[in-house]
Amino acid sequence: MSDILICPSMMCANFANLENEIHQLAHAGSDIFHIDIMDGEFVPNFGMGIQDFELIRKSTNRLVDVHLMIKNPSNYVEKFADMGADIIYFHPETDLHPTKTIDKIKGLGKQAGIAINPGTSIDSILELLPLVDFIMVMTVNPGFSGQKYLDFVDNKINRLLDLKADYEFEILVDGAISSERIQSLSALGVKGFVLGTSALFGRDKSYSELITEFKAYNK
Ligand code: DX5
Ligand code: ZN
Repeated sequence: MSDILICPSMMCANFANLENEIHQLAHAGSDIFHIDIMDGEFVPNFGMGIQDFELIRKSTNRLVDVHLMIKNPSNYVEKFADMGADIIYFHPETDLHPTKTIDKIKGLGKQAGIAINPGTSIDSILELLPLVDFIMVMTVNPGFSGQKYLDFVDNKINRLLDLKADYEFEILVDGAISSERIQSLSALGVKGFVLGTSALFGRDKSYSELITEFKAYNK
């Protein structure tokens, strides 16, 4: 089982001490800092801001991804690439020309990911599978932490795991991911886990203890 990717969802971090959180999470073995950007339209919420992104980017050499939960994401790909995002996720549900956006992200030297809502079918994104580096399956309706895992999405994850053999993409999950789900989904071949309040933040163990535990699964 190749190493899984632990992606702390930074909107769940302690903002009173964000820089310290970043250093602690990096030291604990986090792989990719996950930054949720929201516009209040595609999702009825506002996530992190540009300044949060800039602080995280300048505070760590670890990978930083940006999850654009916004309308017309193609308009902002360049901005986040210029600010130092390593991986840029957007929702094809809100992009008339997703293949152009993927091409734009790659043209900027970044890795391209699509994030798909719980109700988005695999059939509707089949043509994107050969083009992307990552597929992030939303296991909650996007925009809020602390929600309930949507079990019906498991069928979609299983279908992507079957399809994965024919393509280069890796699968990540984002939303209400518990320690138990990291164990079960990583055993099936899911590569990355966006972790918020369900497994990492506000728990009774240190980040180091938790991430060491998660990475030991299925060894
Ligand atoms: C979903 C959230 C995620 C995640 C947070 O859009 O932004 O960052 O669900 O983790 P949980 O769900 O565990 O609080
Ligand atoms: Zn996210």
